[in-house]
Amino acid sequence: MSEYLPGLAGVPATQSNISDIDGEKGILSYRGYSIEELAQHSSFEETTLLLLDGRLPSPTELDSFKNQLIDNRQLKFHTRGMMKNLPSSGHPMDMLQTVVSSLGMYNPNAECLIGGDSCDDINYIHNTTVKIMARVSSIVAMWEHIRNGYDPVAPREDLSFAENFLYMFTGKVPDPLLARIMDVCLILHAEHTINASTFAALVNASTLASPFSVIAASIGALSGPLHGGANEKVLDMLEDIGSVDKVEEYIDGRLANKEVIWGMGHREYKTKDPRATILQGLVNQFMQDRGGDVNPMFELAKVVEEVCEDRLAKKGVYANVDFYSGILYKEMGIPSDQFTAIFAIARTAGWLAHWREQLADNRIFRPTQVYIGHDIKPYSHMHER
Ligand code: COA
Repeated sequence: MSEYLPGLAGVPATQSNISDIDGEKGILSYRGYSIEELAQHSSFEETTLLLLDGRLPSPTELDSFKNQLIDNRQLKFHTRGMMKNLPSSGHPMDMLQTVVSSLGMYNPNAECLIGGDSCDDINYIHNTTVKIMARVSSIVAMWEHIRNGYDPVAPREDLSFAENFLYMFTGKVPDPLLARIMDVCLILHAEHTINASTFAALVNASTLASPFSVIAASIGALSGPLHGGANEKVLDMLEDIGSVDKVEEYIDGRLANKEVIWGMGHREYKTKDPRATILQGLVNQFMQDRGGDVNPMFELAKVVEEVCEDRLAKKGVYANVDFYSGILYKEMGIPSDQFTAIFAIARTAGWLAHWREQLADNRIFRPTQVYIGHDIKPYSHMHER
């Protein structure tokens, strides 16, 4: 009998050359480039192309990719109409999964997937990837207006991916620092090896399902509270604490009650999540730039991290990527129930890179199980029960 490992912990599900984590040393890399270098020098568009193609693009390739994304920002009025009929009280992740799934209805031309063989039509793969990347961002931004009873803000052609998202979301062109922070947040969330939602993408891709189905399945997996969503909880926690002088009492109280501190700890990292370190730097930069004109929550978060480090570092528990992203998003005017949807915008890049990698060397996923039910027994007729 094969050994069963709950959650497939430690079981390789695929071979991949897209990203890598060294949890002991706290290193994350995409296609061999460290996340620190990408956060410092790259843009979300360039990082996406790196994840997809496996190499940094030339200036012409990058320009052409940016233009393709811009050309695909509009949503069909049928899609907008459908969104207007969804209940405004619904969670943005349920909306996103529904609408992405519906895009398959307007894009049935997946001929290369229909034959039953792996798809190697790189034009189809690339063009569909661009379409999905651009549309997911517009859907999340437009929903913010639609659910509040307003017409959505139309996309602009002169703005980067991150700037345009914030413009469509808030109706205002963001200042350069906030736009750069959003760009870096998207880079940091774009890919993270075989997590639950990426595994969902692989399983769906392996059946040669349409890419809209693949991404809809991944969005569903990301929506669960054990995967996306901790950044929303961090914000609630900071609001509960309220002020710097309450931090120690609050943290010690939670730990005594065996409750987790949101935004702390990670299965893969035994040292500080490198993405949290980068975000902490951005928080410092933001606080310096704004001087005294800054939400007290930033100061509060820094004190919470210091206290947690004092109490939890011995267990290898440090701040993770979700600890600082929420307060930064809030500063951009984004409500907390949209945080996971923003995560989905970024992670769509990684999911689609894995979709492409899976198609290049496909075999349908069909794991086995350890059966723990009854042996074969005779059918019991109704009158015998
Ligand atoms: N707060 C307090 N203690 C924590 C902790 C946290 N956030 N994360 C881990 N620990 C403690 C555990 O209680 C355990 O202590 P013990 O050995 O005394 O029992 C020890 O650290 C090891 O943690 P473990 O539960 O084995 O980690 P895991 O790999 O199973 O869980 C997470 C990882 C992410 C689920 C967990 O750290 C967590 O729930 N974090 C908060 C939620 C969060 O921020 N999620 C986003 C991840 S990006």
